Amino acid sequence: MGLTPSHSSVVTLHVNGEKHTLPVDHRTTLLDALRERLDLTGTKKGCDQGQCGACTVLVDGRRTVACLQLAVAAEGREITTVEGVADGDRLHPVQQAFLDLDGYQCGYCTPGQICSAIGMLAEHADGWPSAVTGDVRPAAGPPPLTAEEIRERMSGNLCRCSAYPSIVEAVARAAESGTATSEEAAA
Ligand code: FES
Ligand code: FES
Repeated sequence: MGLTPSHSSVVTLHVNGEKHTLPVDHRTTLLDALRERLDLTGTKKGCDQGQCGACTVLVDGRRTVACLQLAVAAEGREITTVEGVADGDRLHPVQQAFLDLDGYQCGYCTPGQICSAIGMLAEHADGWPSAVTGDVRPAAGPPPLTAEEIRERMSGNLCRCSAYPSIVEAVARAAESGTATSEEAAA
């Protein structure tokens, strides 16, 4: 008798500080597990093929497009969705900046933009250069977060409403607040 192929596994997902144990088909993406199984519908499905950024979440503090991550591969990792970035009733500085500066129109891309911005600010604080960084030597430190830097670093998040000017302003405002640290993103 050969082994019977199994198409599902029981996984434990750590989402926004809570553990969820559930059986999932091995082909289930993290995005579908979050939305369809855990009812965390803040994370949006746009293209479902890694091109729009609407599904961006933080996995171990790093931004990840959840439509390209299998749920089984996310087992045991710390997943943060837009539902988990606020501190109780206190919005995350990136959320507050989007609200204050109208960094959205229809809002469909906004959860992904916010999670991506949180991850991006942590990457920047950690000294990661971007494609438009002039001096990439580690000794040069993080480059100023100019509008050009923000646009490049957020280029994986599309906005059909083209609210880009306000999104860039909001990310710059959050960066100025200096509170979006990598520790916070990983929390
Ligand atoms: S839905 Fe994942 S990148 Fe578009
Ligand atoms: S606010 Fe509508 S898609 Fe970005």
